[in-house]
Amino acid sequence: MSVKVLVLNGPNLGRLDIRDSSIYGDMNYPELVSHIESAAKTHGFEADIRQSNDESEIIGWLHEAADTNVPVIINPAAFTHYSYAIRDAAELVKSPLIEVHLSNPLAREEFRHTSVISGVANGTIGGFGPNSYILALIALKALLA
Ligand code: DQA
Repeated sequence: MSVKVLVLNGPNLGRLDIRDSSIYGDMNYPELVSHIESAAKTHGFEADIRQSNDESEIIGWLHEAADTNVPVIINPAAFTHYSYAIRDAAELVKSPLIEVHLSNPLAREEFRHTSVISGVANGTIGGFGPNSYILALIALKALLA
C-alpha cells in the first residue's frame, strides 16, 4: 500500500519554463511533477503535488496536512526567506516535513541564506535540481520506517 505525501511548491515554481535554467535546470513544471510522481511510486508513495503563488493557499494546505497527519515535502520558494506565517503553519505538521530547493540557496545571494522554515523542518535538501525532491522522498521513507 502506498503512503500519501503532500508535495507543496511555492511561488514562481509553476513557471520553471521561463526561469533561469542555469539556476533551476531544464525541466518545466509539468516535467518536474512527472519526475516526482514516478519516483514517488518507486519509493512506495502516492504524491499529491501542488503549486501556488499564494501564501494563504499554502498555509491552508499545511493545515490540511496537520489535520490529516500527512507528511510534507515543501519547496517554499521565495517564501522560504521571510514567511513567518508559513513557518508557523509548518510547525503544526506533526508528520515529517522536509524542505527542498532546486538550487543551493546558500551558494546564492545573501538574502537566500536565511530560511525561516528550516527550524521547523526535519531537514533541508537543496542544490540537486529536481533530484532534491527524490532525495527528500528517500529521506522521508527512512523517517517513516
Ligand atoms: C528556490 C530557491 C529560492 O531562493 C527561490 O526564491 C525560489 C526557488 C529553489 O528551489 O531553488 O523560487 O526555492
